[in-house]
Amino acid sequence: MKIMVLNGPNLNFLGIREKNIYGQENYQNVCEYIKDKFNGCNIEINIFQSNIEGEMINILQRAYSEKYDGIVINPGAYTHTSIALYDAIKSINIPTVEIHLSNIHQREEFRHKSYTAPACIGQICGFGKEGYIFAIEGLIAHLSK
Ligand code: DQA
Repeated sequence: MKIMVLNGPNLNFLGIREKNIYGQENYQNVCEYIKDKFNGCNIEINIFQSNIEGEMINILQRAYSEKYDGIVINPGAYTHTSIALYDAIKSINIPTVEIHLSNIHQREEFRHKSYTAPACIGQICGFGKEGYIFAIEGLIAHLSK
């Protein structure tokens, strides 16, 4: 099973940005945490990050050509703006789970709307880095059906 984790803008600034919301841990450590959790499970997990919307679309299209089985996406602020990312997720037809470190529904009103979630099989938010693990487990359960 081949799973892509794609993180959007400013997520590379974990451990620097708004630590009270996103935690103390830096981006590299969060990536290692995700990979370590599934080490030895016979699942290939590749993690990507971009601050650029079009680049995220290129990466999603690569998931199609490289035959990924599932995607976990944290689109960052593009969640609340990007019809292009919605279209990209719909286009590639690969089961995708949206994840947010923070509980977007508990925050500013502009974060309550997700343009991308309707293209996904589910959304997880509010559990910090653990959300990535739940999202991957959800994908595995979905793909094993
Ligand atoms: C985020 C939530 C978004 O609203 C915000 O713009 C982010 C991070 C999260 O993981 O909680 O950049 O996606």
